Formats: sequence, structure tokens, C-alpha cells
Amino acid sequence: TYVVTEACIKCKYMDCVEVCPVDCFYEGENMLVIHPDECIDCGVCEPECPPEAILPDSDPAADDWLELNKQYSDAWPNINRKGEAPADADEYKDVEGKYAKYFS
Ligand code: SF4
Ligand code: F3S
Repeated sequence: TYVVTEACIKCKYMDCVEVCPVDCFYEGENMLVIHPDECIDCGVCEPECPPEAILPDSDPAADDWLELNKQYSDAWPNINRKGEAPADADEYKDVEGKYAKYFS
């Protein structure tokens, strides 16, 4: 599966949603997650994400986020259409430690 990581928080550009062939993204207040059992590993979303938040689970940097994707894809509603990114998304693109500061 592919995994959405911290860089998505407060960016939420949703370009990923636009290209996913199986609509396996789920939407929280300020980030999206991927349902690990629904993702078919096609990889097309990965290069679409401006802050490079999407990683394959084979990437060690995805380790900390797989469980969160699993947990919240069961709790949050499915999203199958690109909405509007937050107006200040660009300001958060390079911010580190967004999970501790902003995750909701
Ligand atoms: Fe969707 Fe493919 Fe990305 Fe998985 S890898 S979330 S199936 S676009
Ligand atoms: Fe988030 Fe990147 Fe998608 S910022 S909403 S994972 S395009």
C-alpha cells in the first residue's frame, strides 16, 4: 500500500484524489489518509503530491504513518473528488513536525 505521511497536514492539496483509480482516500479535518486494504499499489498518486507526502510502505519513512492511515481510513469519510486546498496550504508545505502541532 501507499501511505499518506505528515507532510499532508494543513496542505491537503487533494491532487492525489483526482488520480486514484480506486477512490481509496479518506478525509480528515486537515489531512487525508489511504485505506491500506483498498490501495492497489498503482503508485500514480505519489508524484502528484506537491509536498511529497505520499510514500510506498516499503519506504522506512512511511513506517510511523501506516498505522494512522489504517486507523483513520476506518473512521473518516471517503473522498472521491478533489476539493479546494486550504488558502494557506503553501505556507505549510515545508513546515516540520506538523503532526505534533496541528493534527486533528
Ligand atoms: Fe490510489 Fe494508486 Fe495511490 Fe493507492 S497508489 S492510493 S490506488 S492512486
Ligand atoms: Fe495531501 Fe498531497 Fe493528497 S498534500 S491531500 S497527500 S496531494
